[in-house]
Amino acid sequence: MATLIIDRFDGKKHYERSYSLADEDISGKTLLNTLLLIKQTQDPTLNFTASCRCAICGACGVRINGHAVLACDTKMDELFATYGADILRVSPLANFTVISDLAVDWEPSIDNLRKIHPGLAAKSEFSPQDGCRQTQEEFDRIKKQWDCILCGCCASECNKLTADRSDYMEPFVFTHAWRAAHDSRSKDPLLHGKPAVAGGLWNCVHCQECANRCPKGISSADDIAGLRAMVMAKGMTEGEGPAHARSFYTDLVEGSGRLNEVRLALRTEGVSTLARTGMAITLLRRGKMNPLEVFGGETIEGHDALVKMIEAAHASEKE
Ligand code: FES
Repeated sequence: MATLIIDRFDGKKHYERSYSLADEDISGKTLLNTLLLIKQTQDPTLNFTASCRCAICGACGVRINGHAVLACDTKMDELFATYGADILRVSPLANFTVISDLAVDWEPSIDNLRKIHPGLAAKSEFSPQDGCRQTQEEFDRIKKQWDCILCGCCASECNKLTADRSDYMEPFVFTHAWRAAHDSRSKDPLLHGKPAVAGGLWNCVHCQECANRCPKGISSADDIAGLRAMVMAKGMTEGEGPAHARSFYTDLVEGSGRLNEVRLALRTEGVSTLARTGMAITLLRRGKMNPLEVFGGETIEGHDALVKMIEAAHASEKE
């Protein structure tokens, strides 16, 4: 016997309900089929969303034991093997407003998607005869990002959104901004890059959860890094984000290869960072910062190789 605890919401209150299922009824089934089984045989009031049942439409994202998955692409046997228990908790995606049970409100996220102009704004020199052609190679550059099915798994697991969603858009929005900006037919990458900056491009906290949970293997974290590089290359170099990135680069490549927190903070925030002197003293006291390295330090072993690696990464980006 297995048990599914489902987090429910009836529009007014949140509660949980347990459903017992015979092993033979769920063995070989997907999580989506199990939810359908519960709805058909135990509780017709259970609400969730799904459509294609084959990992294409993105409608069936839910959380299992606190991790986002596509219900139609997740086998019950694998879940029990992964969690080593016969009790699983199914919850709605995090970082979305719940409408009913496992169904969440997508409107604010779609509004954010609209802001970055995800459609093609083509170069004006395309002739009516040629249309908007691109080579296979040009398409291959953006093919991975086209795989995004807007399931919301990345947004559900995003630690930045959990901490504060007021100044940050969903990770998949940045992936679509990257895709549109790097489309060879696009007339202006900044048409997508500027709203991405306004939507918190520099506020990503690099937790990589978006990349870990994407069922299509897309790394929004990489796309965010790529967008940052693109907007800086196009002249959007004002603000703390670009200053922070430049400071990293200076320490790693032109400096000793050792990240210097004091200089990093000063270069990023200027004199206002002095307000955090108390924290710096605490870090020094607790041995988290080496006082001998506050204003520099010995060049790290293998620095030449590190510089070569970064230069090679730069060169490959320009190809
Ligand atoms: S039902 Fe379409 S992706 Fe799962």
